[in-house]
Amino acid sequence: MKTIIGKNTEAGLKGRSLIEPDDFSLKELEAVLTLAEQIVKNPEQYMDVCRGKILATLFFEPSTRTRLSFEAAMQRLGGTTLGFAEPNASSTAKGESLADTIHTVSCYTDVIAMRNPKEGAALLASRHSEVPVINAGDGGHHHPTQTLTDLLTIRSVKGKSEGLTVGFCGDLKFGRTVHSLVKALSRYPGNRFVLISPSELEIPDYIVSRVLKPSGVPFTTMSRLEEAIPDLDILYMTRVQKERFFNEEDYVRLKDSYILDKAKMNLAGPELGVLHPLPRVNEISTEIDSDPRALYFKQVKYGMYVRMALIALLTGSILPEAGKA
Ligand code: CP
Repeated sequence: MKTIIGKNTEAGLKGRSLIEPDDFSLKELEAVLTLAEQIVKNPEQYMDVCRGKILATLFFEPSTRTRLSFEAAMQRLGGTTLGFAEPNASSTAKGESLADTIHTVSCYTDVIAMRNPKEGAALLASRHSEVPVINAGDGGHHHPTQTLTDLLTIRSVKGKSEGLTVGFCGDLKFGRTVHSLVKALSRYPGNRFVLISPSELEIPDYIVSRVLKPSGVPFTTMSRLEEAIPDLDILYMTRVQKERFFNEEDYVRLKDSYILDKAKMNLAGPELGVLHPLPRVNEISTEIDSDPRALYFKQVKYGMYVRMALIALLTGSILPEAGKA
């Protein structure tokens, strides 16, 4: 295996799991982002760093971006991948426990990325794995690699992750990407949040009591996107999470609560950045895809680069710069 020296990265990430954003210190998060920026600039330099290593992608829930970007990331680092995109193709269908599945897969691989519909499944998996586990989404709980993607995208246009007014719009109750990004951005100074949702889809109380209030980050709640949008630096749109609803009727009533279109974009400033973790359904009109403020496909690409950085660091394939360990 070829190892190379990365700038400003930390030795401390080798062998670690990432279950939620708080698992890494701010310095460690920044180290992943800095390495990702280096990879964006010079991907050829990293095409061999994971040669001989194997990533498992275990997806118990549907995915396009997360699973494929993890696999593309490992392959672009020179490693290989195995796994399943459908749990019924694994011995889970025969009743095998998650603990046994993870223990088994960790005997074959160097790092595991797992998505599971149950909150807490990734933490449980990390306790039964011999290799690092990366949470690729656990129910309505967390999605930390989407957060790394979001932070990298924000840094690319704003040059910073602090001092920003960030609007979160849509399904703030079930949207795990919102929970993770709120948690991460609360750690940077000077940010403020505008939480835009129908009352039924407000951010969970535990995020308010355990994240927003202790961090002291200023936040307001409102129901009209038109009111919020003129003051925002970043607008984080989200899909109403159909798969987390208990009944279809509520979903149908709430699914089109917000639709970002040209008329609403005309109320925003020229420096607004629109993010969306995707997939989208109706909440962003395709008519704004060509607006330079629409960043969601840039986000898609950055998701692969940031996962390259994360895989390289967790597997110890990139060594810290001399003197920084
Ligand atoms: N953003 C995201 O998690 O997309 P997928 O569900 O397609 O992986």
